[in-house]
Amino acid sequence: MTASGIETRSPSRNEPVDYVSTGPGTVAGRYLRQFWQPVYVARRLAPGWAKPLRIMGQDFALYRSQEGKVHCVDNRCAHRGAMLSTGWVEGDSIRCPYHGWAYSADGQCIDQPLEKGDSYAKEIRIGGYPTYEYLGLIFVFFGEGEPPEFTRYKEWDDAKFVAAQIDVRPCNWFQNIENFMDEGHIWFTHTKSALAKLDLDNLPKIAFEKTPWGLACVAGRADGRKRIVQFGMPNIGMFAVHPDNTSKPGEGANKVETGWQMFLDYRVPVDDYTHLQVHAIATMMQGEPDESYKKRWEMFDKAEAEAHQIAGKVLAGELQYDDIAKLCHHIPLAQDEVVQVGQGRIANRDPNIEHLGMSDVGIAALRRLYSDELRAFAASGSPSAWPRPAGLLPIAGDH
Ligand code: FES
Ligand SMILES: [Fe+2]
Repeated sequence: MTASGIETRSPSRNEPVDYVSTGPGTVAGRYLRQFWQPVYVARRLAPGWAKPLRIMGQDFALYRSQEGKVHCVDNRCAHRGAMLSTGWVEGDSIRCPYHGWAYSADGQCIDQPLEKGDSYAKEIRIGGYPTYEYLGLIFVFFGEGEPPEFTRYKEWDDAKFVAAQIDVRPCNWFQNIENFMDEGHIWFTHTKSALAKLDLDNLPKIAFEKTPWGLACVAGRADGRKRIVQFGMPNIGMFAVHPDNTSKPGEGANKVETGWQMFLDYRVPVDDYTHLQVHAIATMMQGEPDESYKKRWEMFDKAEAEAHQIAGKVLAGELQYDDIAKLCHHIPLAQDEVVQVGQGRIANRDPNIEHLGMSDVGIAALRRLYSDELRAFAASGSPSAWPRPAGLLPIAGDH
């Protein structure tokens, strides 16, 4: 398995499939580019601003017009390579700050001011990508040709409040995809967190189910209680987290929430060594969310920085694992970062190095599913259909 680089050959039946590398030209990279990908929190992109964005090893400029429309183009100016995200947003276009070339939202060069009568702008084009705003997130389609129909999620559309958050995790994206199918980890990684509400003394038996959308990881207990996480192709996890999640234990969940938060989560590669964790968190609540409730979510940025710092110290041996629960305001974030980054920036899945057990059946099923899908995609050029049946949702596990 290559860590990065160009893969243009189709994998044959028995060869392991590289789902780790997602740069341009890789099979997994071409596959993921066939789907809309969430890449930015909409409220963080103000009108008239442009931001640099790195996704699957490629650099983009994401910008918002004064009228509020979001656009995405390649970040490299075709003249001599300056970063367009450092330039000026002019209507729906963006102008390079080096010599003033301007590009429309589809990447067409529309102005070369220093060339005057010799302008060859119409021969110059960079990549321009469709965008879509949904649930407070900006989605971009990075593939070729027409994008697929955008998938909406009714339960999230109907929720009284959805919090959009993105944080960066410094390891390969597929480690965190595997984590969707690894409910056993809750009983160890998250014992000292709000997930302790699950009664974590009672160890689960892990199983999986195939669904039309992908897979479900089922953690069943002897008393019949089940916790279920849904994994949807190609990179979506749906799971439930207790509202105490963003507080230290005992610091108090807010009083307005009436049930577990439902996470619609995406894992989007930045490159082969880093990925985005993208969350659209639907909260069940009495009444309407007020300003103080909304403000609570803005605290997340600070909590995220703190969690990274604490996770780094645990990884460096400067803090102990259980210090996370004492110090962090976003405990599971730091706990998951320690275990996933601890696997290595790219986990080694050589069967002589890792040793899977029966509690890893979900992970083995996920790898098979992904390998089969990528093989089929390499042969046909189109992804399979992965519809989410109405009502397919996670189960928290406390009932
Ligand atoms: S590098 Fe962009 S205009 Fe020259
Ligand atoms: Fe976790």
